[in-house]
Amino acid sequence: MYDGLGRPGRNDECWCGSGKKYKKCHLTFDDKLQALYDEGYEVPPRDLLKTPEDIEGIKRSAKINIGVLDMVSERIGEGVNTLEIDQWIYDYTVEHGAIPADLDYEGFPNSVCTSINEVVCHGIPSKSDVLTSGDIVNVDCSTILDGYFSDSSRMFCIGEVSPERKRLVEETKAALEAGLAAIKPWGFLGDIGAAVKAHAASCGFSVVREFGGHGIGFEFHEDPFVSHVSQAGTGMILVPGLVFTIEPMINAGGQAIDMSDPNGWTVRTKDRSDSAQWEVQLVITEEGYELLSW
Ligand code: MF3
Ligand code: CO
Repeated sequence: MYDGLGRPGRNDECWCGSGKKYKKCHLTFDDKLQALYDEGYEVPPRDLLKTPEDIEGIKRSAKINIGVLDMVSERIGEGVNTLEIDQWIYDYTVEHGAIPADLDYEGFPNSVCTSINEVVCHGIPSKSDVLTSGDIVNVDCSTILDGYFSDSSRMFCIGEVSPERKRLVEETKAALEAGLAAIKPWGFLGDIGAAVKAHAASCGFSVVREFGGHGIGFEFHEDPFVSHVSQAGTGMILVPGLVFTIEPMINAGGQAIDMSDPNGWTVRTKDRSDSAQWEVQLVITEEGYELLSW
């Protein structure tokens, strides 16, 4: 095959674990991938494609990931500091037999990223970050269960939030939904970011380019990189079994970011305008897609 991985014999077991003969299972699928590759399209190598068994594993991980954010949504509010949120998430995750993927990831010191107002992403939980009325905060949580990774994030509005901030939060979610609506099985990854960017632009907002979504499942961050400012009709073919996140970071002001925080993590908007983000994880299916975590 184009990806250097061998193909089973026609009457041998399929590589997907179905137990069926290859000729009755993924043989025509593999032929299709090879043909697309030969025509010059960017085709995911088989080792990025998840089998039904893998998807079940990711769903078990995602169930905890979703549970974490549901738990946070019930408890978050004015007066809570972000280190408390970190502790809730650590406890919930470990009590459910899982591991917070953020903890110690490339040296990240906590179990979650908490990004308030002008913080774009990778905010480090801190006792001194006390949520006050008017704040918008992203809680970005990632979970490992039995080696399977899940990843999602939500925005929370604390107390009385200004109409401008509320609009940023809502339209960022709408931009993500526009990206989802652009998904066509066997279509292009670039269609997603093009739709996200168009929605953001229609609202007068800008999209962060340096960070994007990512393949996920066996590792925290796998290929492909999911740009939120891509061109339609470009990029990797959306092959069923591909699992990735969409997680646009959208700024009320300019697109530029500031990564100069001495802690090495916290990313802010350069102009200190507000920034919002929502993240979902999905699998491409023959029909379209299925959300795994949100
Ligand atoms: N959760 C982020 C993502 O959506 C990654 C955070 S990495 C960390 O991809 F080290 F900052 F936690
Ligand atoms: Co992610």
